[in-house]
Amino acid sequence: MRYTIKDIQDSKDKGEKIPTVTAYDYTSAKIVDQSGIQMILVGDSLGQVVLGYDSTVPVTMEEMLHHTKAVVRGSSNALIIADMPFMSYQVNIEKAMENGSRFLKEAGAQAIKLEGGEELAETVWKLTQIGIPIMAHIGLTPQSVNQLGGYKVQGKTMKTAVQLIKDAKGLQEAGAFSIVLESVPTLLSKLITERVAIPTIGIGAGPFCDGQIQVFHDIFGFFSDFIPKHTRRYLNIGDSIKTGLSEYINDVKSGIFPGEIESHKMNENIINELKATKSNHFTALK
Ligand code: KIV
Repeated sequence: MRYTIKDIQDSKDKGEKIPTVTAYDYTSAKIVDQSGIQMILVGDSLGQVVLGYDSTVPVTMEEMLHHTKAVVRGSSNALIIADMPFMSYQVNIEKAMENGSRFLKEAGAQAIKLEGGEELAETVWKLTQIGIPIMAHIGLTPQSVNQLGGYKVQGKTMKTAVQLIKDAKGLQEAGAFSIVLESVPTLLSKLITERVAIPTIGIGAGPFCDGQIQVFHDIFGFFSDFIPKHTRRYLNIGDSIKTGLSEYINDVKSGIFPGEIESHKMNENIINELKATKSNHFTALK
C-alpha cells in the first residue's frame, strides 16, 4: 500500500519532517522505495542529470511518461509524483487536464507537480476537482530560467517576498496538497511554512520547511557538471564507479576476468568429440 497525500498531511500535522528525493528509473526507484521514504518525485531535472540537456526546458511529455512508468514499476510504497514538463500545462486548463491525467492513467503516478504561483490557481483547482493531486512549486522555478535570468535565490525583496506568500496561499486555497519552495531565503520559507496548513517541501529553502527534497544524482555524487549550493553529498558514487571501472578494465586486459566462477561448464566429452571432428560438417548430431 502506497503512502497517500493524507499521510503526507498527517506528517506535517504531527510535526514529522518529510524527506523526499527524486528518482528516474526502475533500479534507483527500488532502492529509494525500500528506504521507507514517503514521496518520490520523478523530476524534470532528469533533463539535466539523465538526458544531458542544459536545462529542464526541452523535456517532453513522452520523456516524463517513460521515466515515470519505470519509477512506478520500481516502487510499491512511496507516493509517486510526476513533474509536468514545460508547456504541458501552461497553454490552457484543458491541455493541463489532458496531460496531467496521462501521468495517472498511463504511468501510474499518484500526483503531479506544476511550477508557478497564484496565476496557476485556477488550473490547480480544476485538476484537483477532477481527482489529480497537485504538488505546487514556487520560488526558483527552473522551467522559467530564461525569464528569471539564471538560477537565482527568489523572494529577497519586499515585493517578491509578498508575492511568494500570496502564491503559497493561493495555491493552498486552490487545493494543492503540498508546495515545493526552491531557493527561497530561510526566514521567508519559515514564514510561508507557518502560514500555510499544507506541507512545504524545501530545496535550498532552509531547515524550517516541513520536508526537504533533493536530486538523487546530486546527493549521491552521480552528477558532476555542477553542484548546487543546496546539495549535501552523502556518497560519491561517481568516484566509486570510476575506481570500479579501472579495476574491471585491468582485470579484462590481464585475463583475470572472467574467472571460473563467472563462467559456464559443459560435458567435456562433447568438447573432445568436437575437437576430434576435423570438418565443420557434423553429420551425426546427438
Ligand atoms: O525537477 C526536479 O527535480 C524538481 C525538484 C528539484 C524540486 O523540481
